[in-house]
Amino acid sequence: MENNFDLIVIGSGPGGYVCAIRSAQLGFKTACVESRETLGGTCLNIGCIPSKSLLNTSEIYHKAQKEFNNLGVEAEKINLNLSKIMNNKKKSVLTLTKGVEFLFKKNKIVHLKGKGSISKNNVVTVTDSMGKKNNYKAKNIVISTGSIPTSLKGTKIDEKIIVSSTGALSFEKIPDELVVIGGGYIGLELSSVWSRFGSKVHVIEFLDQIIPGMDKDVSEEFLKILKKQGINFSLDSKVKDVKILNNKAIVSFINNKNSKKETIKCDKVLVAVGRKANIGQDIIDLGISLDKNNKIKVNEKFETSIKNIYAIGDVINKGPMLAHKAEDEGIAVSEIIAGQAGHVNYNVIPSVIYTSPEVATVGKTEEQIKKDNIKYKVGKFPFLANSRARVNNDTSGFVKIIADEKTDKVLGVSIISSLAGTMIAELAIAMEFGASSEDIARTIHAHPTHSEAVKEAALAVDKRPIHF
Ligand code: NAI
Repeated sequence: MENNFDLIVIGSGPGGYVCAIRSAQLGFKTACVESRETLGGTCLNIGCIPSKSLLNTSEIYHKAQKEFNNLGVEAEKINLNLSKIMNNKKKSVLTLTKGVEFLFKKNKIVHLKGKGSISKNNVVTVTDSMGKKNNYKAKNIVISTGSIPTSLKGTKIDEKIIVSSTGALSFEKIPDELVVIGGGYIGLELSSVWSRFGSKVHVIEFLDQIIPGMDKDVSEEFLKILKKQGINFSLDSKVKDVKILNNKAIVSFINNKNSKKETIKCDKVLVAVGRKANIGQDIIDLGISLDKNNKIKVNEKFETSIKNIYAIGDVINKGPMLAHKAEDEGIAVSEIIAGQAGHVNYNVIPSVIYTSPEVATVGKTEEQIKKDNIKYKVGKFPFLANSRARVNNDTSGFVKIIADEKTDKVLGVSIISSLAGTMIAELAIAMEFGASSEDIARTIHAHPTHSEAVKEAALAVDKRPIHF
């Protein structure tokens, strides 16, 4: 086999595989190392994709149970077959990971199977499942090894009773009671899944708001919606410990403000308190510089402290841990290595929570804008006043646009809506082009669509919405 490459990518997640494809498109002899059986990394195998499968199925199940009858679609008996649901999830994952395999073949990318490590500046050692080592030379190496779940001090994730997202995506039985530690992305998406399937879910969040860092206004509305859906919350609460007794977990937590102690007995505990960079021993041995959070330090060209070694995605000290951020970095780094002007705009990265309704944001929050001492105007439009949302019985949420008071340039947008994840793309493009709220307000939006709420929110920035 060929053992001399222009570029070797370590890791085949959204950052790594996209980087490999772009590199091959640019004419580089490219290889990608992956230790998992299938390509696609955390996102395709045990993250974004399987979670979206369960979110979709659980939403359909929930609607069939709670909403169909009211609409006149009368179903006699709705059964839930968890093993079929899980098989469907596996099938989706397999189709997509095979899709990446196909793209590798199409682009003549060599898939090196095994665990990759950098043994010298230009040598990648791949250790296969039998422990056999092979060395490959590379003019350039891109580290894209992603991230792994963190846990609480003293709480060991066994993936049986105390689980990470990996375990919570594969429960064999619907837990009667599920405690979720952490009201962030993973915590809330998986709370939604299991709550809709029938579990009693209790989220314990350390801070006084869910999804810290999100516009407070949006986070408060989102919390109200989730509570109405039956999910219980203890905010401002710190988990002290999790004990296992007779196959049950006992979670003890304490309120940060009044020091009140509580315990909850449950079948499963999901620990979703964040992820950390997946740094191999090779990175430490080579002396690649890390920041205080143990993430790889890179400059604007994604260069690490060692020449010809680059890093992208969750493993670096830039931007949020999001698949699409990693993808864009993968494209940019290949283009930079090819001498082109690869670039990632960190100011315009949409983020989406795929609950029902979805919550999507791009740009700055109102709190950040205030902190930056920028004078601003806000336009808000509720889906209650959007005709399509009303027709679909889908009226929760709003669009909130924040624009600069003087220039009217859009600074940040948040959307709560069943279609927020798709709708936010319009705002990301608007922001990339430096749009003003007036530009959006004067763009014709098709009627009747949820997107009209975006136009109305833009009109509301100038206090002239039509339907509210
Ligand atoms: P996260 O950072 O989103 O949320 C973790 C939460 O745990 C925070 O709210 C934090 O305050 C809380 N927490 C920390 N220690 C705690 C304690 N002792 N007790 C109670 N609460 C505690 O992390 P999460 O949800 O684990 O997700 C990891 C990463 O994966 C995120 O960076 C996210 O960007 C990414 N992700 C993105 C998704 C998407 O784009 N839809 C879906 C899933 C994950």
